[in-house]
Formats: sequence, structure tokens, C-alpha cells
Amino acid sequence: MLTDTQNQAIAAALESARARFVDANPRSREQHRKAAEVLPGGNTRTSLFSEPFPVTLVRGSGARVTSLDGREYIDFLGEYTAGLYGHSHPALRQTVLDALDNGWVMGGHIRHEEELARLIRDRFPSIELVRFANSGTEANLFAISTARAATGKNKAVVFEGGYHGGVFTFGLTRSAMEAPFDFVKAQYNDIDGTRALLDAHAAEIGTVILEPMQGSGGCIPADPAFLAMLREWTSAHGAILVFDEVMTSRLSPGGLQALWGVTPDLTTLGKYIGGGFSFGAFGGRADLMERFDPRRPDAFAHAGTFNNNVFTMAAGVVGLRDIYTADVAVALNACGDALRARLNEIAGKARFPMQFTGLGSMMNVHMVAGAVRNVRDLTAGNAALRDLFWFDLLEQGVWIARRGMINVSLPIGEAECDQLATAVEAFVDRTNALVRKESS
Ligand SMILES: Cc1ncc(COP(=O)(O)O)c(C=O)c1O
Repeated sequence: MLTDTQNQAIAAALESARARFVDANPRSREQHRKAAEVLPGGNTRTSLFSEPFPVTLVRGSGARVTSLDGREYIDFLGEYTAGLYGHSHPALRQTVLDALDNGWVMGGHIRHEEELARLIRDRFPSIELVRFANSGTEANLFAISTARAATGKNKAVVFEGGYHGGVFTFGLTRSAMEAPFDFVKAQYNDIDGTRALLDAHAAEIGTVILEPMQGSGGCIPADPAFLAMLREWTSAHGAILVFDEVMTSRLSPGGLQALWGVTPDLTTLGKYIGGGFSFGAFGGRADLMERFDPRRPDAFAHAGTFNNNVFTMAAGVVGLRDIYTADVAVALNACGDALRARLNEIAGKARFPMQFTGLGSMMNVHMVAGAVRNVRDLTAGNAALRDLFWFDLLEQGVWIARRGMINVSLPIGEAECDQLATAVEAFVDRTNALVRKESS
């Protein structure tokens, strides 16, 4: 716990970091000013906005991105997990160039959709049949709607800190943009409390949806015992268990469900699986997914102009079949585990109130010393320190999410990991010295 004087010193350091940021990025500032004339706040994707103005990116190559102001950064954000393949992967690039030669707004079935579906079915234990969409949000919309229609029960249980898309954002307070479903919110990783809530609404619950590790919530893994309880309860009560693996599907060859041996009824996917193009998918138990078979007189409808868009389908096939193979997935996540342990060791040795939570290639920094089991544990975090960390890393040429998310993508190697560890160490040393000075 920092004293008031120490917090004032951090606030002053943050103020000067912010001033240096403004000085270093005049072209991004001007770009944002122009964008704000036609987009609210100059922004069309809330998660990307950050004060005082966002940096505009103009180029990506391998593990690096370059800003409009000519600064190059190591990309440790990896487009919030969608950028797993890095920038302009040559095999994906060639696939798209080949696709261009044969047309890309077909208005008919294409062969790649069957290939991608087969690759997905072979990888993820719960998926017997799958359908494609354009985003993770859309995939979740359809998964919840499928569960509701199949069970005839309206309530969907969600979890604090859960994120399933802009209209499915479940913070500690209710979002005005929440889609009008009958949601019941439980506390993540709270086995007894959640079971009591489920029992209280048992007759009406058709869906239980969660991320097996909360991604946007701060890379907070579920306790496997919590998942096991949810699996058992939903099976016993005829509710549909949906795992949102839009982010976590990368954490093992078969997603987090395979790693932990818990098989949901439905799974949603998104992000990198489209090879870096707009993508979403929902799939699962054959008896549920067969309801979409258009040959049935009572078929569920699921349309979408771009569900089978040529670029996504073609790049997705090459990505899963040739690039993110099972062995590569295992190696990448081992690399992420080692990096996270290394960063936590830096914080631990310096007795700095900072930790990196997560699994495998996904992690998030938190300025919290105690255990993090759900988003309530993060309310004690020092927001100014986290902002300072972000500005500091940016100055050291490292690109991460303002909220502290870090993802290891395929082009990240040892040199990049060393650079991140050195940058984190420098931040910790500098900030520790600042805090010590104020307490002496
Ligand atoms: C777990 C999870 N589900 C769903 C989504 C929504 O996906 P999209 O942004 O493609 O709509 C996201 C996006 O970050 C996510 O992290």
C-alpha cells in the first residue's frame, strides 16, 4: 500500500510521461483531431481509445508496428489475440493474393468453408458441427440464442468481468449497451455463490456462458473446480454450457477446454482463427447444431452475407493447417508461460506491487499484490501506476494494451522477450526509486 506522498509522486511522474507522449506524437494528435470531426471522439472501437489521444499506426511487419510519428514498437499486443500470426505472414499474404485472382464476393458456397470447418472440428473437443459468423460478438449472439431456443428457457447466466462483445460486457455495474436478454450475473470463480444463484433460478436457466479464462477482464483463469461445477450443474438441469473461447482457443491445440478436460455443449471462436480477417464461429454438440440444417422444416435460421467470406475462409485454413499446428501451439504457450514467470520474478524480487496473471501466450499486468481470482480483486489496483507502466513501455518501444494486456504472437522470439523483460525491469527500478525517495 503506497502512502499519499508516494501516490502524489506517481501522479507527478504520470503527468510528465503524458507531456512527453504529447511532444513525441504530434502527427497522431493531428490525425485524432481530424478523426474527431467525423467519428465520435475520433474513435470507432472503444477498446483502442486512450487519453490524451491514441497513437495512429501505419505499418505492421513481423513482430513490429510503426506509428504515423515514425516510431517503431515491438508488438506485444498482437491485436488482442487476433494477431497471433504476426504482421503480413508470407503464407497468409500469398493465400490472399491467390484468392484475389478468383474473386471474393461469390454469393455461393466455397470449398474453403468445408476445409476450415473440418480443421476446427478436428481440433476442439466440443465441436461436432460448426457455423461461421463475422465476429466473436455475433458468434456469442448466436450461441446464446441457440441455447435459449433449444431449451425454451430464457435466462442466461453470465459472470462479472466477462466479455463476450460490446453488447455483452459484464462489469461490476450494468452497461447501458447490454443486449436485451434475460441475464443473471454471478461472481467468477465463486463456486458456492454461483451454485446458489443457479439453484435459485434453476427452472428458467437455458444458458451458462463464460470464458474459461477471462480475457478482457484481465487474463484471470477459471478455477478448474469452478468449471467442473458448472459442467455438472448444467448437465443435471438441462441447461447449455457455452465456453467463449474467442481468445482462449489459442492456449492449447484444442483450446482451454482440451487443456482442462472440461467439454462444454457449445463453443464460440473468433480472433486469429480467421487468419487475421473478420471472424466468428459457434459450434458444439451435433444434436444442437443440427437444428440449423436448412433441410429441416423447423430449421433455425442463421444468415450473414460475409459468413463464408473468401479471405477469412482461405486464410483460416492455411493458418490452422500449416502455421498454428498442434506443436506450434504447445511451443508458443510454453514460451508465454516462461515469459510470465520471468516478469513476475522481476516484480517479486523488487517487492513491487505488480503481477502478471494469465496462461500461456496471454497475460495482463495488474498493480495488485494479492491473489487475483476475479475482477473484484482488481479494484484495489493502482490505476495511476498502471497508466505510468503503459506510457513507460511505449517510450521504451513496447506496444501493449493500455489496460495492461500482453500477448505473445508467433513472430515474437527470445530477443523480443528479453527486450520486454529489460523494459519492465527498468520501469520497476525507476518507479521503486521514486517511491523510496518519497519515503526517506
Ligand atoms: C472472449 C471474447 N468474446 C467475444 C469477443 C468479441 O469478439 P469481436 O470483437 O470479434 O466481436 C471478444 C473480443 O475481444 C472476446 O475477447
